[in-house]
Amino acid sequence: MNAYVGTPTSRVDGRAKVTGSAKYAGEFTAAGLLQGFVVEATIPRGRIARLDTGEALKVKGVIDVFTHANRPQLADRDEAWKDEVAPEGSPFRPLYDETIKFNGQPIALVVAQDWETAKFAATLVRVDYEQQPFVTDLEAELGSAAELDKPHEPRGDAASALAKAAVRHEADYVIPTEHHNPMELYATTAVWEGDGRLTVYDKTQGVQNVHKFLCGVFDKNPDDIRVVSPYVGGAFGSGLRPQYQVVLATLAALALKRSVRVVLTRQQMYGLGYRPMTIEHVALGAAADGALDAVSHEAIAVSSRYEDFARNDAGWAEQLYRSSNSRSSHKLVHLDVSTPCDMRAPGAASGVCALECAMDELAVALKLDPVELRLKCYSDRDQSEDLPYSSKQLRECYARGADAFGWSKRNPEPRSMRDGKELVGWGMATGVWEALQMPVAARIVLTSNGHAEVSCAASDIGTGTYTIVAQVAADALGLPIENISVRLADSTLPQAPVEGGSWMAASSAHAVLAAAEDIRRELAALAKSMPGSPLGGVDATDVTLVDGTIAHNGEHSHSVSIADAMRHGGLERIEKEKLNRFDEDKSHARNTHSAVFAEVKVDEELGVVRVTRVVSAVAAGRILNTKTGRSQIMGSVVWGIGMALHEETVMDHRFGRIMNANIAEYHIPVNADVYDIDVIFVDERDDLINRLGVKGIGEIGIVGVPAAIANAVYHATGKRIRRFPITLDKLL
Ligand code: MOS
Repeated sequence: MNAYVGTPTSRVDGRAKVTGSAKYAGEFTAAGLLQGFVVEATIPRGRIARLDTGEALKVKGVIDVFTHANRPQLADRDEAWKDEVAPEGSPFRPLYDETIKFNGQPIALVVAQDWETAKFAATLVRVDYEQQPFVTDLEAELGSAAELDKPHEPRGDAASALAKAAVRHEADYVIPTEHHNPMELYATTAVWEGDGRLTVYDKTQGVQNVHKFLCGVFDKNPDDIRVVSPYVGGAFGSGLRPQYQVVLATLAALALKRSVRVVLTRQQMYGLGYRPMTIEHVALGAAADGALDAVSHEAIAVSSRYEDFARNDAGWAEQLYRSSNSRSSHKLVHLDVSTPCDMRAPGAASGVCALECAMDELAVALKLDPVELRLKCYSDRDQSEDLPYSSKQLRECYARGADAFGWSKRNPEPRSMRDGKELVGWGMATGVWEALQMPVAARIVLTSNGHAEVSCAASDIGTGTYTIVAQVAADALGLPIENISVRLADSTLPQAPVEGGSWMAASSAHAVLAAAEDIRRELAALAKSMPGSPLGGVDATDVTLVDGTIAHNGEHSHSVSIADAMRHGGLERIEKEKLNRFDEDKSHARNTHSAVFAEVKVDEELGVVRVTRVVSAVAAGRILNTKTGRSQIMGSVVWGIGMALHEETVMDHRFGRIMNANIAEYHIPVNADVYDIDVIFVDERDDLINRLGVKGIGEIGIVGVPAAIANAVYHATGKRIRRFPITLDKLL
């Protein structure tokens, strides 16, 4: 029975969000709450020779200034600082010692009665540095690029196949550093509960990840710290790892035995993770008819000196298209910068952008329609693992997307289409992402009045977890959605990993199903045991929950109300907690796919690009909520517009310092940059992946969008821009 799953159900947390009653990490308060302000390093590498907090401490209202010199005890072992998604290496530790590893590194925390005082006093902290030689420019350091430990196995011999190919395309595509810029600032309110105990309200994608981390770093018992994050104003990967302000707020609260809030400024947020700059070298070789014979993708990416952050940029080419020969590699250049982190579809957003631009260039060289080229190389098997897919409706994505867009009317000639003084261009690209699942548990408490509370430690980072959990629970328990309340993102709730990787929808939905199944079984037993029960002779497996009743095959004529059954059993409540179960079977590849079509209009004299239409056709299994799901893809498309045309973190390498650490100069799309976005969910039934056939759509929406736009810009102007973003100066 699906009254809610698969329907455009409105957000259950929508009212709380738009009326302001939803509280975010920096909005929680406590008696005597103190405010912290961070002092940052202004050099990229070296050591603090002298740090004088005397003047700051004299300011009325300042309580204390924490630095490496006077900080309380912090764990020494690397292991304590490694959170569940930490990359290889030795994680950064704020206020640990005098070493400066990156510009913008926190070096002191001023704590005062109010924020303005803390901010003012922070300007009085005097620092002398011993600066050391540093490098922050990837392109100046390509010579030091080193392959990761486990290079991917090549298939065939890509080099010689490339040399022999009838048609070849080879180029570098450059993706700049990008920062997340979620609306909500990075924030923590650490509330002192007495006796060394804290409730930590933190902006995070994983409360249990932060909980374990804080217990390790501060050597606390699990019961001493509780981490709560009921609402998140966007995170996109920036909240997967514990952010440094959670350490600072916790440190100050424990030291002062007071409640302390630390909120970073927009500028300070640029001192945390980001999408690393990458240089993506793609080489494709094809026969004259367009059949691919060689695919080579080598990515070179930035990481910090202390950690190896690396994602799958280059592997998609090997997986996606049919080609007997392929190779990929991912190299890192270690610079004097902070460690990058996951940012929506990490690896794929950048790598597939390069691949799909290269495919477009190959199509031009072959004089083939870009969709036709992709169909010629279409593979029903995962090429890198040689596995069938659990489902793959990419072919249908191309067809539905092209149809909705009107692709057949495209004149292939660049600069051939116009609208007044604007050149018109049509481009397309493929998107691909993973369909992952993780262990997640849910607890359901059903009360005899027909209400249920579902709880789980998972976060809702704005993606709609509250809503899909309520939908799945309502259907499984046969209750109206209004009778379901959902509690999330509290470290004391049943187990969940960070919400990321697009795995939480499938994972949490199946945790709810598992717990509901136990409830159904208990109710069936109760109903059957009632005197004269209409379910007396019925097999318990044929009993379902529907409309507040326990029914044989969902039929009202053979049913008992849940309330009556619980009364009979003398039960006020039934509580079940269960871990999701999913098939670990490795015999199928599990991915989501998309076909993205974009129209741009380019002002020839000014170089201004407008993305006037985007059609994104997505195949991602069953869509749990077509309303929030559509919003999810639209948001991704908007971000793809940003990636194509606007976003770039600019560093002045003479100082190793970010020059546009604010959203006035770090450009992101605004409403005026966004025109028509059409989202099509292609039917994709998947009986192998999980019971509901759900794959997750958090990230697929951005993949392919920047390339589709870049390809449209080429079609409009005849200019191939391989260095993103495509700003107007590059088109003049
Ligand atoms: Mo996503 S980049 O795993 O939040």
